[in-house]
Amino acid sequence: MKGLILSGGKGTRLYPITYTQAKQLVPVANKPVLFRVIEALQEAGIQDIGIVIGDTGPEIRQAVGKGRRWGVRITYIEQEAPLGLAHAVKISQEFIGDDRFVMFLGDNVIQGGISQLIREFEQSDWNCQVVLTEVEEPQHYGVAELDEAGQILRLVEKPRNPPSNLALVGIYMFDPHIFQAVHSIQPSWRGELEITDAIQWLIDHGYTVRPYIHRGWWIDTGKPIDMLAANDRVLAELVPEVRGYVDRDSQIDHLVTVEEGAEIVNSVVRGPTIIGRNCRIVNSFIGPFTSIYHDTLVENSEIEHSIVLDHSHIENVPHRIQDSMIGRNVHITHSPIKPRAYKLILGDNSKVGLL
Ligand code: G1P
Repeated sequence: MKGLILSGGKGTRLYPITYTQAKQLVPVANKPVLFRVIEALQEAGIQDIGIVIGDTGPEIRQAVGKGRRWGVRITYIEQEAPLGLAHAVKISQEFIGDDRFVMFLGDNVIQGGISQLIREFEQSDWNCQVVLTEVEEPQHYGVAELDEAGQILRLVEKPRNPPSNLALVGIYMFDPHIFQAVHSIQPSWRGELEITDAIQWLIDHGYTVRPYIHRGWWIDTGKPIDMLAANDRVLAELVPEVRGYVDRDSQIDHLVTVEEGAEIVNSVVRGPTIIGRNCRIVNSFIGPFTSIYHDTLVENSEIEHSIVLDHSHIENVPHRIQDSMIGRNVHITHSPIKPRAYKLILGDNSKVGLL
C-alpha cells in the first residue's frame, strides 16, 4: 500500500500568510499540517509516499526532504497547474503502479484513529473506500447520498441542494481501477478533474465503493478561522511536556507545553498552549488555546487564542491580542513617538481589527 498526499494549491484564503509560505506548512500546535499527514500515513504502516506539488514545490521539498526523519521514502510528483484532485491521481500513475493506495489532502487535519481503517482496506477486495463526516454546510464539499443499508448511491461535488449532510473528507483509498476512472471523466464546470466524479464513475461501472463515517473531528484548514479551530483541537489533545525553562515568578498550568530552549520569565501561561523552541516570554500573559512557534519574543503583552509564527516580536502591546494569526518576522510594538497614532506597515490582504 502506498500513500499519496496532495500538496499543491496557492492557499489564497490564507493570504497574507501564504504569500511567503505553502499553506500545508503552516503549523498547527507548532507542527506543520503536512507533517501531521505524513505521520498519519507512517503510523498506518505506509513507507512509500508520493507528494503532489505545485508552485510551492521547492519549499515543500526543502521542509520535508526525502522523508528519513519519519522513516519513509518520499517521491515528489509535479503538477503543472491545479487541475483537480483526479488530475493529481492521473499524473501519479507511474508512482503508484499496481498498488493499492490512500490519498490524503495535505491541508486537512483529522482526529486520529484511521490507521486501522487503512489497514482494513489494504486487506479487503474493495475497489475504493471514502471517508465521510457530518458537516453543517455540505454545499461547500463533495457530498454522498447513502441508501437505507448505508451504501453509497451517488456522490456530488458542491451541490446546490445537498442530498445529505455527509461530506467527503479529504481521505480516499483506491485500487488501480481509479486510473481507468480518471482517464474517462471530463472536467467539471470549475475546469477541474474532480475526484468525486471519478469515484462516481467507479460506482456506475459496478465497482465496490465503501463509505466509512468518521465520528471524530475533521478540519479543512482553508481560512484563518479554520486554522485557529484546528489549533484548538490539536492543542486540546496534546500531551503536555515542559522541556524549556520556567522561572519561579511564572505560573504555568498542567496543559502547557514548553519546547527546548524556550524561557518563560515572570509570566502566566494558561493551557492548552504551546511555546516553541527558543521563544522568550517575558512579563506576559499567554493562552489559553495559543501556539507560539519557535524563536519568537513576547514581552509585556497578552495573547489569547492565537497562532504566532516564528521569529516575531510582540512587545509592550497595550491591549490583549486575541483570535489572531500572526506571520513570521512580524514586529508589533507600542510606540512612544508622538503623535499617538497607529503606525502600520501591512502587506497586501492583511486584516487588522483595531480598538
Ligand atoms: C475537495 C473535494 C471535495 C472534498 C473537499 C474536502 O474540495 O473536491 O469533494 O469534500 O476537498 O476538503 P476542494 O478543496 O477542491 O474545494
